[in-house]
This record gives sequence, C-alpha cells and structure tokens, in this order.
Amino acid sequence: MPQERPRVLGLGGSLREKSRTLNALKIALQGAADAGAETRLLDLKTLKLPLYDDRPDPETYPEDVFRLVEEVRWADGLLLATPVYHGTLSGSMKNALDFLELLAEDDPLCLGGRAVGLIAVAGGSIGTNAINSLLFTCQTLRAWVAPTAVVVPGSAFADDRLTDPKIEERLRRLGREVAWGAERLRGR
Ligand SMILES: Cc1cc2nc3c(=O)[nH]c(=O)nc-3n(C[C@H](O)[C@H](O)[C@H](O)COP(=O)(O)O)c2cc1C
Repeated sequence: MPQERPRVLGLGGSLREKSRTLNALKIALQGAADAGAETRLLDLKTLKLPLYDDRPDPETYPEDVFRLVEEVRWADGLLLATPVYHGTLSGSMKNALDFLELLAEDDPLCLGGRAVGLIAVAGGSIGTNAINSLLFTCQTLRAWVAPTAVVVPGSAFADDRLTDPKIEERLRRLGREVAWGAERLRGR
C-alpha cells in the first residue's frame, strides 16, 4: 500500500529528567500531526549512544545506534530540539547527528531529501548560536531546513512546562512547515 502521509520524526530532548526541550519538541510534533503528518518521537534520553568514533567496523556499534539510524531512514522530515549548552547545541545532540554519517551510503545520503525544523531551548533568552550551529550541521548533512526556527527562552516555562502561548504557536507553526516540506520532498 502506498504511503499516504508524510512521516515526521521528533529527535532531541536533553538527558535531564523532565526535559523542557522534550516538552517543546512534543508541541512542535503536534503541529506536524495537525498538518496531517504521521509522527514519532525519539527522546535522546532513551538511547544509550556511545560517542561516535568513526570506527572501520560500524556494525559493532550497539543496537541503539541502529535504532537511531532506522528511525531517521523512516522519516521524510525531522524536528530537532536541543537545549542550549554553553551557547550552542548540546554534546548529546551533536553526537547523535554525527551518527548520521552511517547514512552516507544511502540515496539520498544522510539527511538529504528531508525537511528539518530546528528548536533550541535556553535557560536565558539567547539561543541563536545553537540554532546556527544546528543549521550548519544540518545543511552539511544535506537537509532542507524550514524557514521558521524557534528559540524557546527560560521565561516561557513554569515548572518545566511551556506556558507561553506565542512560543507554543511558533512551535506548532514550525511543525506544520516541516510536515509541508516533508510531503513535498518525499521520495526525492
Ligand atoms: C551544562 C549547561 C550549560 C548551559 N548553558 C546555557 C547557556 O549557555 N545559555 C543558556 O541560556 N542556558 C544554558 N543552560 C540552561 C539550559 O539551556 C536550560 O536549562 C534548558 O532549558 C535545559 O533544557 P532541558 O530542560 O531540556 O534539559 C545550560 C545548562 C547546562 C546544564
């Protein structure tokens, strides 16, 4: 049976319990679902990824690495959400993206042919550099990056729950954009 709906994978969160980043990511995924996408969530906390080491025998990586790879293969679009760590994206997010090197022999390779939306969750209000770093990495991985990017400031949360309606709407819009792009790029 032909695939009918674009598939959007939410990837991110932090390794912290009650991650605000995960909370923001779920809202963006809801936006993608509202626009008709089939969605999945991959919380980085649930993956025990080793550090990527460019080994000559990648088949020896643990199972969770291939879970990540297969989830990305499934997706026509991705929403990537990172906490801001020391002015940029977290090491765990960058490490997960480095593992997409294992898709280098795919056609299209790595994130090629996929729409990607970017989210950075800050403790303060400045997360632009995390977005820029994600953007640069995603473009190097051949992704088509959505025009909306969302920096979520610490002030948008109460008790680790996002409570700012404007930021919520921006996250949903990003989700809709990624669903739209995923639909159009599918199969290319
Ligand atoms: C190691 C570390 C570095 C951080 N660096 C920054 C930073 O440079 N700028 C900022 O605004 N917040 C910074 N924060 C705060 C986090 O971005 C903020 O608490 C975020 O909401 C954490 O997301 P989480 O709840 O998903 O873990 C830092 C937090 C940690 C643990």
